Amino acid sequence: MNESANYDESKVGNHPLPELLQCEDGTEVLDSSIWTTKRRPEILDLFATYVYGKFPLVQLPITFEEISVNQAALGGSAIRHEIAINCVANDKKIRINLALYIPKSALTPVPIFLGSNFNGNHAVDQDGSISITTQWMRNTVDEKSVVNNRATEFSRGFEATRWPLELIIEKGFGVATFYYGDVEADHPDGWKNGVRAALSPGGESSEFEDDDWGAISAWSWGLSRALDYLVTNPAVDSERVALIGHSRLGKAALWAGALDERFALVVSNNSGAGGISLARRDFGESIRSINENFPHWFCGNYKRFNASPETLPVDMHQLAALIAPRPLYIATAQEDVWADPKGEFLAGKNAEPVYALFGKPGLGVAQWPPVNQPVGEFIGYHLRTGKHDVTTYDWQQFLRFASRHFRITQ
Ligand code: GCU
Repeated sequence: MNESANYDESKVGNHPLPELLQCEDGTEVLDSSIWTTKRRPEILDLFATYVYGKFPLVQLPITFEEISVNQAALGGSAIRHEIAINCVANDKKIRINLALYIPKSALTPVPIFLGSNFNGNHAVDQDGSISITTQWMRNTVDEKSVVNNRATEFSRGFEATRWPLELIIEKGFGVATFYYGDVEADHPDGWKNGVRAALSPGGESSEFEDDDWGAISAWSWGLSRALDYLVTNPAVDSERVALIGHSRLGKAALWAGALDERFALVVSNNSGAGGISLARRDFGESIRSINENFPHWFCGNYKRFNASPETLPVDMHQLAALIAPRPLYIATAQEDVWADPKGEFLAGKNAEPVYALFGKPGLGVAQWPPVNQPVGEFIGYHLRTGKHDVTTYDWQQFLRFASRHFRITQ
C-alpha cells in the first residue's frame, strides 16, 4: 500500500479498453481461427513491444544435469530431484537449479505445477540436503536469512508456507520450482550477470532498445527453459504442466504462459500491476510507480505510458485472452489493494469473449464475487481474505481447478 495511490473506487476513471476482437486492419474476429492466426499474434507483438520487451531470436544449446536425488523426501511421499539447467553464451554461464518433486506413489506420468520462487529452493522445503543458492538475493527477508545479498542456512524453509508441497503431492501433482535470481538478479544492474547479458549480442556492454526485453521477460524465459527440461522427463506428463507465479513472478508467469503455449494452464496469484490488473483503472499501483520503483522490470517503451496509461496500446484483459483457450486462474486477496483485486477480476471478465470463441465458459458471474467464494470455469477467480501472499487456501483452489481441467479424480 502506498498512501499517494488512489484507493477510491469512484475515482478509477472510465477509459474504454482497447479492442479485443478487432484486428488492426479493422477485420472483426468472428471465430477462433481469425483469433489464432491474426489477432492473437498482433496482441502478442504489442505486449512484447510496449510492455515486457522482446527476446533476441537466438537458441542456446542447453544441457541438463542431475545434481541430487532424495528418494524419501517429504516424509517419504515424494522423490526430490535437483536438476541443473545449463547454458553458456557470451562467456556467461546461466545455471537454473530446478527442484522437482514427484509423488512416490505415481504409476504414470504426473501433472506438474511449475513456478519460480523468491528465496531459493532451500527456502521452499526444510530438507537439509537441498543446495542453498549462491546467487545474489535481495536483503529484504531478515538479517539472519540473507546476509550481504546471499542466502544463509538460516533461510531454509523460509518460503515453505507458500509451497504446501505435501498437499500438492497428496493430490497427485508434482512440483517444480527454481530461484528466479538464477536467471537474473532482481535489481537494475542484475541483467549484467544474467540471461539478458548472455543472449544479447553486446553482452554486458549491451545498450537496450526501447522494445528489448526487461527482467520480467528474462524470468519468463527461465520458466520456458524449465519446461524444456520437464518435457524430457518421463515421470512428467508434459501435456499437463500448470504454470504458477506470485506477485512479480505472477507477472512473469502470465507473460511466459502467453508466449509459450506448451503451458497447459496458468495461475496468476496477486500479480497486480503489470500482471493481470487493468492498467487503465487508476487504483493501487500505477504504471509510473512500478516503472520508477522497478526500472528494470519492463521494456523502455513501457515508461512512455507513465503519465497516460489510457494510451497504452493494450490492456490486461488482452493478456488474459492470450492464455485462451487454456484455463486461467486469477487469485487475489482482499487486503492486497496495491494489486487492485477488482481490476484483476475485470481483466478476466473482459477476456471472456475470446474464451467464448472456443466455446469455453469464463468466470460464470457478472459481478465481482464476495470474499472466499471462488468462481469460474475456464477463467477461475477468487478474492481471499487477508494479505498479499500465497496461502494453503489459495493452493486448495488451484488444485481443485487444475484437477478438474486435468481430469484428475481424487
Ligand atoms: C511490489 C511491486 C508489485 C509486485 C510486488 C511483489 O509491491 O510494487 O508490483 O507485485 O512487489 O513482487 O511482491
